[in-house]
Amino acid sequence: MYGSPGRSVARRTNYFRTHASLLKWRSKSDSDETSRHAATTHGVSTSLSPVFEVGKRETIFPPIESKGIYLQRNFMDIADLRKEYISGGLRRKELKPDPFEQFEMWFQQACTAELLEPNAMILATASAQSAPSTRTVLLKYFDRQGFVFFTNYESKKARQIDENPQVALLFAWLPLERQVQILGTATKISTAESLKYFTIRPRGSQLGAWCSQQSTIISSRQILEMKFEEIARKFQHGEIPLPSFWGGYRVIPHGFEFWQGRPNRLHDRFFYSRQDNDLWEIQRLSP
Ligand SMILES: Cc1cc2nc3c(=O)[nH]c(=O)nc-3n(C[C@H](O)[C@H](O)[C@H](O)COP(=O)(O)O)c2cc1C
Repeated sequence: MYGSPGRSVARRTNYFRTHASLLKWRSKSDSDETSRHAATTHGVSTSLSPVFEVGKRETIFPPIESKGIYLQRNFMDIADLRKEYISGGLRRKELKPDPFEQFEMWFQQACTAELLEPNAMILATASAQSAPSTRTVLLKYFDRQGFVFFTNYESKKARQIDENPQVALLFAWLPLERQVQILGTATKISTAESLKYFTIRPRGSQLGAWCSQQSTIISSRQILEMKFEEIARKFQHGEIPLPSFWGGYRVIPHGFEFWQGRPNRLHDRFFYSRQDNDLWEIQRLSP
């Protein structure tokens, strides 16, 4: 379906390596007033200034002042960052009827391609007043029941899920020219299920879960580190218990979108929606 996975994945990975090597920080001379001013304003003590090079091109703008803060605008010309998506397309007749199986296949391919954190997903939540918010979380396991991640039950995301359990997940597997969006309802998993996962976490991560009142304001990093020391002393003997404010959510999907990049922005998009009989209807979406 995707040609020879080994060859095409290597080609795509090469593209990204080459591309990444063209984007690099460049040291600027100390005599450059503009960069020194911006560096001082941002509290940066070195003479490094954020000049990106894209190939041999370089675009430098003067700094612009905004409410007393100098914004360094000498970034690459972002509009020039464009690539053609050349890998194989996604055809309707080759899709698996079950989106969980389709996801599993793509997830395995993302792992085989050795992408950085293939299980990283953007979780979008919204408050009762529809104010959206996003962040990265790690998928820990999935099956036909749903997609499970772990977090602090008093965090901002948790508060939003309490108010409004409708969420979206996004896997952006860019070197494979793919993204998968999952729409669903988030529910807390049982304490027993959270405990099962908590006990296999590294000890440092277990202690970390105890220390962080996630999403609240803290006055310094030192406070966090002191809390870590205190918790480490408290639980120095024996197993670390599961914090009551920490655990998993399962996102139970009602929609999946599989996106595959194609040339000329004529990408392939297929949307699976769950029907009343628990079968999935598949429709092609316009790119
Ligand atoms: C690669 C990556 C993985 C992350 N994984 C998790 C995770 O699994 N659970 C979690 O609570 N936060 C994770 N975070 C931190 C979140 O992105 C976020 O900062 C934190 O959960 C607080 O979000 P909130 O204030 O919106 O609730 C991760 C961040 C990154 C960059």
